[in-house]
Amino acid sequence: MKTALITGITGQDGSYLSEFLLEKGYDVHGTIRRSSVDYRERIAHLEGHPHFHLHYADLGDSMSLLQVVGKVRPDEIYNLAAQSHVQVSFDAPEFTADIDATGVLRILEAVRQCGLAATCRIYQASTSELYGKVEQVPQNESTPFHPYSPYAVAKLYGYWIVKEYREAYGMFCCSGILFNHESERRGETFVTRKITLAAARIAQGKQDKLYLGNLSSRRDWGYAKDYVECMWLILQNERPEDFVIATGEQHTVREFCQLAFRYAGIKLRFEGEGVHEKGIDCATGRVLVEVSEDFYRPTDVVNLWGDPTKAQQELDWNPTKTSFEQLVRLMVNADMAKVAVERAGEEVRTNLAEYLEKGIVK
Ligand code: NAP
Ligand code: GDD
Repeated sequence: MKTALITGITGQDGSYLSEFLLEKGYDVHGTIRRSSVDYRERIAHLEGHPHFHLHYADLGDSMSLLQVVGKVRPDEIYNLAAQSHVQVSFDAPEFTADIDATGVLRILEAVRQCGLAATCRIYQASTSELYGKVEQVPQNESTPFHPYSPYAVAKLYGYWIVKEYREAYGMFCCSGILFNHESERRGETFVTRKITLAAARIAQGKQDKLYLGNLSSRRDWGYAKDYVECMWLILQNERPEDFVIATGEQHTVREFCQLAFRYAGIKLRFEGEGVHEKGIDCATGRVLVEVSEDFYRPTDVVNLWGDPTKAQQELDWNPTKTSFEQLVRLMVNADMAKVAVERAGEEVRTNLAEYLEKGIVK
């Protein structure tokens, strides 16, 4: 039985990768952080599984990493932990650098210090944000990097230090340059999930309006569940190499929004430009989407479009398993159900309060 260690196991990708590796028969270990609130929602269903184990560690704390790597002695490490929000990296650039750049070095050194350099394979969660202010479309493994946020600059260090340890010490460590991947488990402040949740709430009368930033930004959006398979394939490859993982298809934020609202039962039309652009309900004339400068970034990456040819040819990976339309639909369906359950809960609480007040129930 192979042993895997996943940092960032509570995140979107960590949860899908855990399920994937457990199905493959791995003993899965993950690192978690102490928090005053419950943040283990995405992995709650796995807790108690005989091959699923959690350990406290932080990417900012070398000692905790040394301890967990030494104890688990993994065959494979998937370093997914990161401050992963690009906009937040402008507000917390030093923290982002510590975790997303130096944190990668801490993992590599922990593996070396524990005497596992020759046996442990390491996957680094790199990103299409490295292409930033893009110099070529679509982007592949030889496209020049031009990072365009503190997050991307930190991730660029992660990319290079992985390459350095591969070349200097012969370690099997690789970067997956992953383009945006989404799911029903996506964090609620990333644009796709923000849109699907708002579409569901607006459709069910629980929200009036959705405020967004740059509607013209373009992304190559894939399904997270399909992408974690690639992380594993990269570590099963004969040689340690870096791969671009993308669908090869590009859409604007505006298109995502229009489709999500359509699946929630609302036909939107967009009018105006820049901060004055609005998304209007064709049936009622109500303005449902507005632009707010609060969601603009000091520098914004606006043209990501990946070329997954290498992964297709060398890893035999299928980039179009889940289409863009299927992705949007499954996210909207999940949020429609979530909002419906919340509404039902509210109704029960309201009724109960009324019955208690009237003495119908005691
Ligand atoms: P996510 O949902 O934001 O999850 C991030 C994970 O990192 C969480 O488990 C979080 O733990 C953990 N973490 C944050 N700071 C940490 C620290 N100081 N020490 C230990 N753990 C820490 O991100 P994701 O979407 O799953 O992405 C996974 C990785 O892929 C990230 O490195 C991200 O930058 C990269 N990536 C993502 C995409 C994408 O489109 N999703 C694309 C390219 C690259 P808590 O739950 O405790 O906060
Ligand atoms: N978050 C957010 N909120 N983004 C918005 C909004 C909004 O209200 N309105 C427009 N956008 C635009 C952003 O300006 C950006 O151009 C695009 O939508 C996507 O933003 P996010 O969903 O926040 O993702 P990201 O592309 O910045 O970063 C994600 O993908 C990277 C891979 O390219 C994250 O998952 C990163 O961790 C990952 O590396």
